[in-house]
Amino acid sequence: MGGAASHPVRHPPGCGPVPREVGRGAARARTVGRMQIFGVDIGGSGIKGAPVDLDRGDLAQERHKVLTPHPATPEVVADSVAEVVGHFDWSGPVGITFPGVVTSGVTRTAANVDKGWIDTDARTLLSNKLSLPVTVLNDADAAGIAEMTFGAGRGRKGTVIMLTFGTGIGSAVFIDGQLVPNTELGHLELNGHDAEKHASTKVKEDEDLSWHHWAHRVQRYLTHVEMLFSPELFIIGGGVSRKADKFLPLIDHVRAEMIPAELQNNAGIVGAAMAAAGS
Ligand code: BGC
Repeated sequence: MGGAASHPVRHPPGCGPVPREVGRGAARARTVGRMQIFGVDIGGSGIKGAPVDLDRGDLAQERHKVLTPHPATPEVVADSVAEVVGHFDWSGPVGITFPGVVTSGVTRTAANVDKGWIDTDARTLLSNKLSLPVTVLNDADAAGIAEMTFGAGRGRKGTVIMLTFGTGIGSAVFIDGQLVPNTELGHLELNGHDAEKHASTKVKEDEDLSWHHWAHRVQRYLTHVEMLFSPELFIIGGGVSRKADKFLPLIDHVRAEMIPAELQNNAGIVGAAMAAAGS
């Protein structure tokens, strides 16, 4: 998985560039001379996916999105993932993000999703549902992998920490480009609380915090993470990274460089595909 972040994408057996004459259907035909893998991002509000052009680190086709069902139990989410993939004529490997700890394809935690995911063999569930090979990984790890190769972390050495601010706070820690998976820094304790219950974008919305107030909380959080890891760089991701100019200039007590993510909404999809290519 980390290999996907630090090395050129390896083409798994049978999944390299597909010449037009052996391509099957419209989606396959467009893979001429280019390596594609399908990426799916499972989020709290939407499940979105598309074939990813791994040479460019971008979507090869417009993504398809369905609303996340509620309750988001493994079985119904797997149906939604199948709906997203089924929207395309796709028959290769699929990389899928999950907003929790994932070890060896098993989802271990479920802070903001249905608790039925805890200890579910998601890889087997999703791969049976799609009848395709599947790689499952943490959503922030996927976004980080994409940013380190195609976005804000390109070529960066040392300790780089990507943080995604959304419903929760996700983290991806890289040391010289190598991912340390499942770091879950959103659950560090801050002011006696789970940090993501204090400084996520959802909390900003729920408590109607001003940019100033929220930036102050984010600063306290970043200072804490910095004390533990002394990173060279923080990459600030999640939807709010589009509005980085509203809050990053308000944060001035952090030593590390801070830059907004570049791939924004598609980082998870791209990183999921990269992880599937490298696994
Ligand atoms: C989860 C992480 C996830 C983050 C962002 C947290 O609540 O524990 O695994 O990366 O939310 O979705």
